[in-house]
Amino acid sequence: MSPIKPIQLFATASLCVGFFTTNHAYGDASYADPLPGISAEQKLDFYLGEAIFQKFWIPAPSSTTASDGLGPIFNARSCNNCHINNGRGHAPEDGIAGGQIPSFLVRLGPKLTTQFADTDIYQHTGDPVYGQQFQIAHTAGVLSEGDYHLDYQYKTEVLADGTKVTLRKPILTWDTLHYGPMNSNTGLSMRVSPPLVGMGLLDNIPQQNILSKADPNDIDRDGISGKASWVKYKGQTQLGRFGFKASMPSVSAQNQNAFNTDLGLSTPDFPAAFGDCTEAQSNCRNAPNGNSPHLENLEVDSSQIHLVNSFVALSAPPAMRNLKQPWFLDGKAIFDDLNCGACHTPKMVTDDSSEFSVLHNRTFFPFTDMLLHDMGDELASEFPEASAEPREWRTAPLWGLGLSEKISGRIGFLHDGRAQSLEEAILWHGGEALPSKEKYTQLNAQQRLLLQRFLESL
Ligand code: HEC
Ligand code: HEC
Repeated sequence: MSPIKPIQLFATASLCVGFFTTNHAYGDASYADPLPGISAEQKLDFYLGEAIFQKFWIPAPSSTTASDGLGPIFNARSCNNCHINNGRGHAPEDGIAGGQIPSFLVRLGPKLTTQFADTDIYQHTGDPVYGQQFQIAHTAGVLSEGDYHLDYQYKTEVLADGTKVTLRKPILTWDTLHYGPMNSNTGLSMRVSPPLVGMGLLDNIPQQNILSKADPNDIDRDGISGKASWVKYKGQTQLGRFGFKASMPSVSAQNQNAFNTDLGLSTPDFPAAFGDCTEAQSNCRNAPNGNSPHLENLEVDSSQIHLVNSFVALSAPPAMRNLKQPWFLDGKAIFDDLNCGACHTPKMVTDDSSEFSVLHNRTFFPFTDMLLHDMGDELASEFPEASAEPREWRTAPLWGLGLSEKISGRIGFLHDGRAQSLEEAILWHGGEALPSKEKYTQLNAQQRLLLQRFLESL
């Protein structure tokens, strides 16, 4: 370890982050406060959007046409079921079968494929029978896709000072597959629901700022490449920003895709009322739907999407904490020494293109470069997605980490929720992040604690 060197970055940070974030008393609603400074009308939209985010959808037909159309197969009845209080979900416990609606899902896709990088999202196929996602719940008259359970494989990592850390990795077993065996070329990727912090800000980072950090062929030879995620959406190639593999280009696209695949609801961009049912699931395709003439012949019309987008985009990130504590800069110095910031870029800005003027020209601290990085075999998915290879993931933002448990009750970091502590999350870093991880294992207990407290303050 080189000597700890204080850095200047945060000298003005308390000013930058203070006025624009929420200083809520950090209860379980901390991620769901509106950004200060939005108009009265936007505030109304925000709370109406929150109500849609939290409401339980019901199957069609029903007398309340504004809330029906769920399924026929689905993963949950509400957005909030997974993004608990806008926070992260958790992976199922060891050995417990699915079926009880976890805040977690399983994506499916072809292991060997040439289709993805240039193929429109609408043409992504997933499994020929089970589609892009495994749905564990169903409406009357239709079968769910089945059930699974997770077991954890445990291993011990010994740090340089002899400290032992237990790491766990989920292994999925199908208990029931209601539509027959899966295609042998189908791979899976488990995903826990991520926290929805500062989505509107991430949506409005100028594209060239993200691209300027990309170095796909590692020309600067620092061992960190960073690749932009290009996705084809509605016929146009765009920069992907959302999802663990940055496969969705905007908050609106991501939200609409969630309505369609997670809840089985039709939206302007994803108009199939049957959601993720494939042609092979004819019962499911022909089940009643909730498309209504007064909702643009959809289940969720454009005005409801606008409200949910307002809620998701205008939720304020929590303010950074402990900036004035003497140890804060020591923790930051360790973060720098370990080169964590090579991917977890502290500072970003927005431009002035958002429909929400409150998001214009903001400086904020998400700790992500929004690029894809090779994270090694241990974290790899079994299939590629849009531009992302199996080993590649978008750098996870680190803001709000320390509030995770307060907000959604239980913690579980990384894309599948496997890591039960920040330390475990760091120790799973491989690929381009392996040197950082190796340096971490050399820290002494005091340095590890400083880093942890710094991370928990973001
Ligand atoms: C079954 C659980 C589940 C439900 C229900 C769900 N989500 Fe998600 N959500 C996820 C997962 C898992 C991801 C990560 C997806 C990926 O990696 O592509 C995600 C990602 C997101 C993201 C992007 C976050 C980021 O950091 O990139 C947004 C925004 C989002 N969901 C909004 C919604 C909205 C709005 C709804 C309701 C219409 C919803 N979600 C319903 C599980 C869920
Ligand atoms: C090469 C790029 C890279 C470097 C270097 C890197 N990370 Fe990460 N980090 C990532 C990516 C990508 C993910 C998401 C991986 C996943 O979900 O499987 C991640 C995830 C995390 C998470 C989990 C966040 C969450 O919400 O689940 C933490 C904590 C974290 N990193 C901390 C660190 C620290 C501390 C360092 C330095 C020791 C570091 N990272 C170095 C790319 C990097």
